[in-house]
Amino acid sequence: MKQELDKLKTQVTDELKKADTMASLTDLEVKYLGRNGLLTQHLRNIKDLPESERKNAGQSLNVLKNDLENLFTHKKAILEKKDLEESLKEEFFDITMPGTLNGKTPELGTIHVLSQLQEETENIFSQMGFTIADGPEIESEYYNFESLNVPKDHPARDMQDTFFIKEKRHDHHGRLVLRTQTSPGQVRTMEKYGAPLRVILPGRVFRNEATDARHEHTFNQIEGLLIDKDISIATLKGIMKEFLSRLFGKEVLVRFRPGYFPFVEPGLELDFSCLLCEAKGCRVCKNTGWVEFMGSGMVHEHVLRAGGIDPKEYQGWAFGFGLERLAMMRYGISDIRLFNSGDLRFIKQF
Ligand code: FA5
Repeated sequence: MKQELDKLKTQVTDELKKADTMASLTDLEVKYLGRNGLLTQHLRNIKDLPESERKNAGQSLNVLKNDLENLFTHKKAILEKKDLEESLKEEFFDITMPGTLNGKTPELGTIHVLSQLQEETENIFSQMGFTIADGPEIESEYYNFESLNVPKDHPARDMQDTFFIKEKRHDHHGRLVLRTQTSPGQVRTMEKYGAPLRVILPGRVFRNEATDARHEHTFNQIEGLLIDKDISIATLKGIMKEFLSRLFGKEVLVRFRPGYFPFVEPGLELDFSCLLCEAKGCRVCKNTGWVEFMGSGMVHEHVLRAGGIDPKEYQGWAFGFGLERLAMMRYGISDIRLFNSGDLRFIKQF
């Protein structure tokens, strides 16, 4: 019996050496270890042996079975590795190569000019210690108007034509609107972070107005808010001069004019020196040398209170400017509607 089992082992070892595919390995496994395999038959025959031989035969067969299983496992690992290497050789591709679609290389997209400008703005303000925050585009009348010192039925509501949402709300925050400005973020960030505060809030705003070369119904604003002790408008002047000079890469002058916004007192319009004509006067600056840039002012005490901040302890200023108008000035774009036109000839220039 021992000779017979040794012979079987040698036979399996020889055949395993020749097996060079997973399929031939599986065939061999069935031939020897399968339900009707040669070794299985030996195991089954044990019961027919004389009792005195059964124990030894059983032990020898189990040792052989273990040996054979190990041989198969070993061979299987070798063949799997070989298969993997072969398929890697065949299927290798360079993931850094540009892809193709129907034989053509797809055109690469670019980051939209407004996104680029927003990122630049965020970077400059971050460097000056401002954090960047966000607010909802669907806003309550409370945050969009009331908290900003514009009570119901106040004529200042007509300054910004509003899109109202049909859905009714029955809480004290009033109806839902598409925010007409990023200013509601002022009260939201005051409530959330308290004073002192130094934040910019970029975002999309909506106004129910007819479009023309300078007006869109959907556009982007950047709100700025700084609240601290002993703050005056002088810091706003310095920060905006620094921001614009860094953005345009040359010294830019700024000036204030009186302006009216219910949420600031005093309210100020800020202009900067025209970069196209070096403030000498041109068509863009209507021969004044100055370009209208943004609304701003000292935060009204009602707004500070709405944000949970004590106006006796803290003061602050806020500003809001339009991203599209800034991009138009920077790149000499004559029509605001180009930004959302989807016209690739326009978009690809940036
Ligand atoms: C406001 O929206 C105020 N929330 C700004 C502000 C913030 C004042 C904080 C004081 C303190 P105004 O309606 O002027 O203000 O809009 C601000 C800027 O948004 C404008 O200077 C302009 O650049 C841009 N803008 C306004 N309307 C449009 C429009 N229809 N299309 C494109 N840009 C616009």
